[in-house]
Amino acid sequence: MQRRQFLGSLAAASLFPRGGIAQTAPMRLIAAPHRQQVLPVGYPDTAMWSFDATFPGKALRFKQGDRLGITVENQLPQPTSVHWHGLRLDNAMDGVPGLTQAPIEQGASFEYDFALPDAGTYWYHSHAKSMEQVERGLYGPLIIDETEPPDVDQDITLMIDDIRLEQDGNLAAFDNFHDLSHAGRIGNLWLANGQIDPAYPLKRGDRVRLRLISAANARVFTLGLQGFDGWVVALDGMPLKDPRTLPEELVLAPAQRMDLILDVTTDSEEAFLITFERDGGYAIAHFPVTGPSKAARSEKVILPPNPDFPIDLANARTATLMIEGGAMGGMRAARVDGQELDARELAGRGLFWALNGVAGRPETPLLDVSLGETVRIGMANNTAFPHGMHLHGMHFSEVFSDGTLGPLRDTILLNPQDTREIAFQAHNPGDWLFHCHMLAHHQAGMGTWIRVSA
Ligand code: C2O
Ligand code: CU
Repeated sequence: MQRRQFLGSLAAASLFPRGGIAQTAPMRLIAAPHRQQVLPVGYPDTAMWSFDATFPGKALRFKQGDRLGITVENQLPQPTSVHWHGLRLDNAMDGVPGLTQAPIEQGASFEYDFALPDAGTYWYHSHAKSMEQVERGLYGPLIIDETEPPDVDQDITLMIDDIRLEQDGNLAAFDNFHDLSHAGRIGNLWLANGQIDPAYPLKRGDRVRLRLISAANARVFTLGLQGFDGWVVALDGMPLKDPRTLPEELVLAPAQRMDLILDVTTDSEEAFLITFERDGGYAIAHFPVTGPSKAARSEKVILPPNPDFPIDLANARTATLMIEGGAMGGMRAARVDGQELDARELAGRGLFWALNGVAGRPETPLLDVSLGETVRIGMANNTAFPHGMHLHGMHFSEVFSDGTLGPLRDTILLNPQDTREIAFQAHNPGDWLFHCHMLAHHQAGMGTWIRVSA
């Protein structure tokens, strides 16, 4: 009942029957302009773009092992595409215009159809002019249920975002060089599932699976949960072998996800999801708590693992990635389509960032590797801003300085001056984008790709 209420509040969501999708005709998702009351009632509404006239797009839900079949129809005033973020899918279905498909032109449609080998918390979003299209609302949750999901009282997905609205309810303009050359488009309003501080009622002692998804353009959220005990059980969709006790602070970079198993342990009448900002903590969502005190469960949950692709560090193909650019540190020159341009010429093209001295997606991949090879990429953030580097099509592990491997992720945060190394087995053939998920940075040059040849 409460789960249905929640999904109902994710706009006029239609929930697809679990597991039933493989047999039915392909679903349609229509990308089109849409107006939504984002600001409180009494304020103007907001002109947005959305999937199926809801913001965020409806929660798409499948069972591990199903096929996803969705025809995306473009009724926007510009070309689009859909990327299924974090899924280890067929390359032709990855949704990157100019790399894996042609953009879906105005009035046209594209049929996405692929297998779903992994369970977990993912999301779908536009991958065309994404700084603008994602900010305008073209995103939604994509949940793949385990064959045997853990036993919980409620399963709640919160897509958190910060958008930048003007007083009149309009989205602030997108032609902003400051965003491109600094941290990216940081919003002035926090949203959870498209709403300001929504409420999700819980019962004392309930066990909740909370799925946090950041759809933010650029903000790195530092979050806290109040009123719960529990564990972080998955990151970026992938189960942790060893769930971590709920920490005080949860850092969520753009596009990252976190699954939590939480027991409602508060004695008070409310629990909270908080964002910690410079001047204090603010609720992004709250949970009214009712019911007599009932003992919370306490047994730890370990999610079943997804298919594993072992990493062979000793026999790896290696590359390094120097991240340069942006204000306060900047770069003097970079290559674009093989041509050396100085900073002024780059700025004239809206380019402010480079990977290994190249601004924009290069014609040749960062690496061309054979299926099954292990890849190691060392990265250095020589800029004054954080970056969330996202690899399409395969999850990676961080390689720590002692040679141990971190949990599987698809997006890794590099703070200014960080150096980090990642490794993965190139198990998925195709051309895979590797880019900064601060969407203004991607637009302004921070993207490369990796070819996995079968
Ligand atoms: Cu979430 Cu290249 O994307
Ligand atoms: Cu970046």
